Amino acid sequence: MSTELEQSSAARQGQALVLALASALRTAVYYSPGNAVMRQVCAALQKEIVEQSRAEGLTRVGVHSHSVYVNRARVSTTISTYGRFSSLIGQFNSWGISSLLFMAGISEEELLRALVVLANVPPAQVADLPRKLYAAGVEKVELDYNVPGKGTRSTSVTPIVAYTAAMQLGSELGQAAGSFEAGMVRRVRHVTQAVVDQILRDPVALLALTTVKDLDRYLILHSTNVAVLSTLLGQRMGLDKTRLGELCLAGFLHDAGKLGVDPGVLHKPGFLDAREWEEMRRHPVLAAYALLSNQRLNVSNMRAVVVAFEHHLNYDLSGYPRVEIKNKLTLFGGIVAIADLFDALTTARVYRGVNPTPPEAIANLVKRSGTHFDSTLVKLFVEVMGIYPSGTVLALTGREAGVVCRPPALGSPLDRPMVRVVVGKEPGHVVDLNERVNGQYVRSAVAVLNPSNRGQIPAVDPATLSSFQ
Ligand SMILES: [Fe+2]
Ligand SMILES: [Fe+2]
Repeated sequence: MSTELEQSSAARQGQALVLALASALRTAVYYSPGNAVMRQVCAALQKEIVEQSRAEGLTRVGVHSHSVYVNRARVSTTISTYGRFSSLIGQFNSWGISSLLFMAGISEEELLRALVVLANVPPAQVADLPRKLYAAGVEKVELDYNVPGKGTRSTSVTPIVAYTAAMQLGSELGQAAGSFEAGMVRRVRHVTQAVVDQILRDPVALLALTTVKDLDRYLILHSTNVAVLSTLLGQRMGLDKTRLGELCLAGFLHDAGKLGVDPGVLHKPGFLDAREWEEMRRHPVLAAYALLSNQRLNVSNMRAVVVAFEHHLNYDLSGYPRVEIKNKLTLFGGIVAIADLFDALTTARVYRGVNPTPPEAIANLVKRSGTHFDSTLVKLFVEVMGIYPSGTVLALTGREAGVVCRPPALGSPLDRPMVRVVVGKEPGHVVDLNERVNGQYVRSAVAVLNPSNRGQIPAVDPATLSSFQ
């Protein structure tokens, strides 16, 4: 019964969104942006987008075979709405797109600018729409030119959309304060699927986004980063899409138990005393309880429960919680543990005097290989990230400096990533440290310059390093 009610309310919401979009686009043709009517229809549309994003994490309006879809659900039309549906389908056809994507959190102002551009683009300039939107300062509306049904099934979500949707959801999970009703985990799964799709399309496209660190939103960003990094590692291992979806979900929820930890301890800006550590160390068990309490016990949910329980246990079971049975860590538990420590180390924490740079974090993982972490998994993780992960600031030979923006290409040495030059002959250009002329490297890294670093290449044991290459 409740399912039928949910379905009919979702259908009503979808229909309201489509009608609001059709009306807003029509109004934008006839009225100026400052007009009261225009502002009113824009506000109505934004309200529907917020509603829809709440249900799905982001909002996608698509047109296919003369039908309109909202987040892949077909929206049915009636005699009274047929005209507005038809006009919207006509607009999509004239723009040559299959979907419009609205990112959660779009402001009324930005939506207004997007509507003005979309409604008034001359037919001869539709190919220029993405540039026009960008020029108008619109970043949270995306166009999708894919024809549904062609090629692999894909959400056509860009890296930034997938990442932002995951973050948005993370922030709502935080507000839910530990209550994980079934609907919430369904939504997490929807968003994590977008992350998996993105990683399958371009494995390192999300890496740059994981270098964004913000202490106020630590748990949200950390959960998102761990989901992305775990999925990347799983992808390198050759896991199939279903397993990657489960891994991404488990990575996203691994610290869910922190929402049940005393906030005074969780947010303490200094070192924790023994009692506070004891409180903090409850979070793997708390997560397992929270995830078990309201869930159907299917394979995917159980994996998330196990990963949350295992992620601080260590490969040699020397971590916490203490366990009597000497079982091996699960594969997913081992993967998430590596992603977890890497992200935690590369986020500046006020209580650490010197924060490790990304290469130092890699060196730290390598040091724990075989004890805290499965050495095969560490080896693969270093292969995915390189010795200088994205975000590392490098001094280069030739008095140049730059920021690592992509890990080394497959087959390149692990210490030769792609770098965006910041200081040098061509600022803004991306250079490949693996580029050679007459057998000589054009550029090499000479020092790590991240603010917390002491100016040296981190101490990755050369013997260990060469065994990885
Ligand atoms: Fe944790
Ligand atoms: Fe964590």
